[in-house]
Amino acid sequence: MRDAQPSTIYLKDYRVPDYLIDKTSLSFHLGERSTEVTSRLTMRRNPAAETASQSLELHGAELELLSLAINGDVLPEGDWEQQGELLCIHRVPEAFELECKTRIYPQKNTSLEGLYKSSGMFCTQCEAEGFRKITYYLDRPDVMSVFDVEIIADADAYPVLLSNGNCTATETLDNGLHRSVWHDPFPKPAYLFALVAGKLSRISDSFTTMSGRDVALHIYVEEKDLDKCDHAMQSLKNAMRWDEEVYGREYDLELFNIVAVDDFNMGAMENKSLNIFNTSCVLAKPETTTDAGFQRVEGVVAHEYFHNWSGNRVTCRDWFQLSLKEGFTVFRDAEFSADMGSPTVKRVEDVTLLRTAQFAEDAGPMAHPVRPDSFIEISNFYTVTVYEKGAEVVRMIHTLLGPEPFRAGSDLYFARHDGQAVTCEDFVKAMEDASGVDLSQFRLWYSQAGTPQLSVQGDYDAQAQRYTLSVTQSCPATPGQAEKAPFHIPLKVALLGEAGQLPLQLKGQPQDTETADNTEMVLDVTEAKQQFVFENVIESPVASLLRGFSAPVKLSMNYQRADLLRIMQSDSDGFCRWDASQQLGLAEIRNALAAQAAGEAAEVAQDYLDACQQLLEDTQLDPAMVALMLQLPSEAYLAELISPVNVHAIHQAREALRKGIATALVEPLQAAYRRCASDEAYRPSAEQIARRSLKNAALSYLMYTSHGPEMAREQFETSRNMTDRSAALNAIVNSDMPYKSDALQRFYQDWQHEPLVINQWFQVQAMCRLPGTLERVVELMSHPAYDAANPNKVRALVGAFCGQNAVNFHSEDGAGYAFLADRVIELNRRNPQIASRLLGPLSKWRKYTPEVQQRMRGQLERILAEPELSSDVYEVVSKSLKD
Ligand code: TRP
Ligand code: ZN
Repeated sequence: MRDAQPSTIYLKDYRVPDYLIDKTSLSFHLGERSTEVTSRLTMRRNPAAETASQSLELHGAELELLSLAINGDVLPEGDWEQQGELLCIHRVPEAFELECKTRIYPQKNTSLEGLYKSSGMFCTQCEAEGFRKITYYLDRPDVMSVFDVEIIADADAYPVLLSNGNCTATETLDNGLHRSVWHDPFPKPAYLFALVAGKLSRISDSFTTMSGRDVALHIYVEEKDLDKCDHAMQSLKNAMRWDEEVYGREYDLELFNIVAVDDFNMGAMENKSLNIFNTSCVLAKPETTTDAGFQRVEGVVAHEYFHNWSGNRVTCRDWFQLSLKEGFTVFRDAEFSADMGSPTVKRVEDVTLLRTAQFAEDAGPMAHPVRPDSFIEISNFYTVTVYEKGAEVVRMIHTLLGPEPFRAGSDLYFARHDGQAVTCEDFVKAMEDASGVDLSQFRLWYSQAGTPQLSVQGDYDAQAQRYTLSVTQSCPATPGQAEKAPFHIPLKVALLGEAGQLPLQLKGQPQDTETADNTEMVLDVTEAKQQFVFENVIESPVASLLRGFSAPVKLSMNYQRADLLRIMQSDSDGFCRWDASQQLGLAEIRNALAAQAAGEAAEVAQDYLDACQQLLEDTQLDPAMVALMLQLPSEAYLAELISPVNVHAIHQAREALRKGIATALVEPLQAAYRRCASDEAYRPSAEQIARRSLKNAALSYLMYTSHGPEMAREQFETSRNMTDRSAALNAIVNSDMPYKSDALQRFYQDWQHEPLVINQWFQVQAMCRLPGTLERVVELMSHPAYDAANPNKVRALVGAFCGQNAVNFHSEDGAGYAFLADRVIELNRRNPQIASRLLGPLSKWRKYTPEVQQRMRGQLERILAEPELSSDVYEVVSKSLKD
């Protein structure tokens, strides 16, 4: 809980540590009531220290201090004092061994940070500042140490004892205890420490690295889950090979362990050689897991594995540099997933997340740069900005440098900084040094928050055969940053002619005859206003802009409707084709909103319907792309484009259009549904996933027609994979079919012993768009399968209702807001990280109409008035109320 004045930490105040810890030796006695931790730290003054102070300040939170000794001498009371989260020892020698005993209570730890218990097993989560809940330490990432760990526990209750590195000894002790000792040769910051003790089963495999070393791979789970580990294991081996082939990165120990736990605040954690995962990100089998679930497992397993280099071997100097490891690693895992499946589909999914969640964050009260300059609680900065926008920043460097120079930059970065704790600046510098590309202006992407807006106008001069792109950029103010300097924006373009892409010849730039493809180029947009003139353009082209979503910006262009239809039908860039479909869909929504306001019925434009029909009948195009292009822009995306947001009007307009599309295209939708059905054995291959996605997109449209309900029922009853079954359940739950309650009951009966499937059961109900959903959610909170201590359950029910069910969350009586505030107040003590994360939808109150704003604000004020707010909740609520 926070002290009276929660303080703000600033990047500009960074100082190197006064002391270093060369060796960390830990001993854990895991007990049923409490755990005793003994730490022996081999410490010395940092030769680079900036102060002459001889006092030592260690971090510690919620610890019971049992004893403290320096070089074997117990420290008398007056030699140290405790102030909040700091233990200050007034005078220490130049070099010494500090021995410290503490008692902690993992069984009572509900924050899931530090050492805690989940389904009977002990586990840890130390990032970012959780190690201080285990023992007193220099809990900052620039203090790196070699760890030796001894674990002592009851042999029957905790047969498996794990920590980082290699196991160097195991031993049976008296009183039913046993002991195991671990040594990790790689110096690491405390946030990468991990310990696991429990009754666990495992699947094992091995991997031979590029230099021929054998690595043992183990995935530890509860015995009942052993049949759901194969996909994670295959993903791990694919990721290990991919990192060797694409980045030249080899694994560096003989052992790599993954452990799955039920209660986990995030997706997974990259602890050195002992990754700890949320079960939702490891376990998968066709009967219980959707295609999206399979892909998430693959992506998260790869992400955590890739951290071994981008995060562990080279780590962050301080938490302001979080994107150094997260942005780079998300970029790496996105490229991996693209290579394992469909690159365009993966790109469109990532862009969708960015344009909804990240753009919203950038426009809201918690907006911050990819490298923030201040925070109250670092846990609040594991955000879509640091992760996803951070990955876009790395992607832009890749685009500006080209693949080979980027790889050279990456090699230089790892060679130069191996074993160090470094900054985003060090990363950019390595990229610059290896490539010779000047990234000085580009660095603003790290320091300026907000989403840049690009306005482009295209003009063709037939006489001069010239095509001019006039580009202006601007960026809205964000908290603490009123004015922004122009960004360096890589704008990837092509010019589409009647028969394909035209050769590009930029005025004032020598013709590049070397490259094979001169029909696509990256324009360096660097000024507030800029013109690019293309010469020898023989026909009036349609500009294909921001290809592959080459920069995380909002783009507007003076397109004609025919231009968008042409891009949608024939651009070679998949992202641009999809984006054109979204722009056309947006135009339909705007029409429907206008019609609605005038009390008229909305009609879908015939050319849009024709384009949709063409898509449905196109057997050449990837069915997954067809499915994505058939979707109207999501309500979340529309909320970023229309201001102020009227949730109900948007929902109504979108529903009316969906019905219009379904009615007009019944036959092609049915044909596509039948074409995509298959009774092949399930595989999570790109090809099968694509077919299922189109089939289920067609089903969701057909639900607006008389054919849908029977199809949904049939699919629900006969499908053997969870993708089709849960898509059918979702369709049924959102319909008025009387069958609904039977279906829900049957699903529960079938899967009551699979917690991850029950989460899906909670989630479909929480996301139901029909009236009465909040009442149902409240009822489900008392269901025996619900557990407010389990983050996955909270996310499935409360998180999904508040964050992904806009019509119901924003019900006009304000009940949704009060419900969320109640949940936040409840969780504030139990689990501050989860409480704070739930606040997202409420904190963005300023984008709604005035009456709505007032209701939302009232709930935020109610939370702020609570006593003992955690720093996590306090930061989000206070910042969102600040004017
Ligand atoms: N480093 C983890 C990742 O991105 C993130 C993480 C896992 C985390 N657990 C956490 C961050 C708990 C904060 C708190 O892979
Ligand atoms: Zn990560």
